[in-house]
Amino acid sequence: MQKTVWITGASSGIGEALALEYAKSNANLILSSRKKEALEVVAKKCQTSSNKVFVAPLDLADSSNFETIISKVRSQFDRVDILINNGGISQRSLVLETPMEVDRRLFEINYFGTIHLTKLILPWMLETGGGNIVAISSISGKFGFPLRASYAATKHALFGFFETLGLEHIKDNIRTTMVCPGRIKTNFSLSALNSKGETTNEMDPGLANGMPASICAHRIVKAVRKNKREVWIGGKEILMVYFHKYLPWLFWKIAPNIDPK
Ligand SMILES: NC(=O)c1ccc[n+]([C@@H]2O[C@H](COP(=O)([O-])OP(=O)(O)OC[C@H]3O[C@@H](n4cnc5c(N)ncnc54)[C@H](OP(=O)(O)O)[C@@H]3O)[C@@H](O)[C@H]2O)c1
Repeated sequence: MQKTVWITGASSGIGEALALEYAKSNANLILSSRKKEALEVVAKKCQTSSNKVFVAPLDLADSSNFETIISKVRSQFDRVDILINNGGISQRSLVLETPMEVDRRLFEINYFGTIHLTKLILPWMLETGGGNIVAISSISGKFGFPLRASYAATKHALFGFFETLGLEHIKDNIRTTMVCPGRIKTNFSLSALNSKGETTNEMDPGLANGMPASICAHRIVKAVRKNKREVWIGGKEILMVYFHKYLPWLFWKIAPNIDPK
């Protein structure tokens, strides 16, 4: 059956790779993020002979037009089978140097914008018999890590929200999947905020040498298809999730000595 998939943060990186991966199975796509032109480029790449691709620009930091956007999407599609909450930004600054404005900005985008959009789409999903709701968290949603306290906090918060949503709607055929990527090769660190609230424009060597976004997207699509509740995707950095969970003393020995970039 042809699926309809709504992806936030679809203009680049993992979101773009997800759109391309779903297009391979001819899925209909709704592509969201701030940059309309970049979304249109992705949309073109995802167009097949029989799918519908709709660009729905939005800013996760400004929910004032979310209802209007959802009405426009509803006029184009009967249902959304899969919502992938992928849009987000990061941070590269020490706790001591990070002003509250930066903490709040990260929460506005990564957490409040994401949950607001989800809360407005959820009733539609319920009306149409359910669907999959995916949150792209991070391994930083499983443990804290230097230079990204606020980012890690937003990604932990997503776990609390989406696991609860999944439990509340298990009987309604809503399936939630928490995705925890490790280091994925995208430009994500470029848009990370520094202690002045400006973008760093720096490529982290860790991300530059990370897993290709296409492989990450392939594994996310597979996990969603199998209704997995949680998936960890990346290279050897994923070991840290196991250490944190099962060998915390080892985690605390290793983590302070890893280059945070
Ligand atoms: N790369 C990694 O190693 C890694 C690891 C763990 C988790 N993740 C998560 O993966 C997700 C995607 O990141 P990525 O690595 O693919 O980096 P990316 O290429 O920078 O993608 C981030 C996406 O979020 C969108 N976005 C940023 N601010 C937004 C806003 N205010 N409103 C709406 N959309 C916004 C961006 O589009 P616009 O600029 O057009 O708005 C872009 O499409 C993020 O949630 C990130 O936390 C990435």
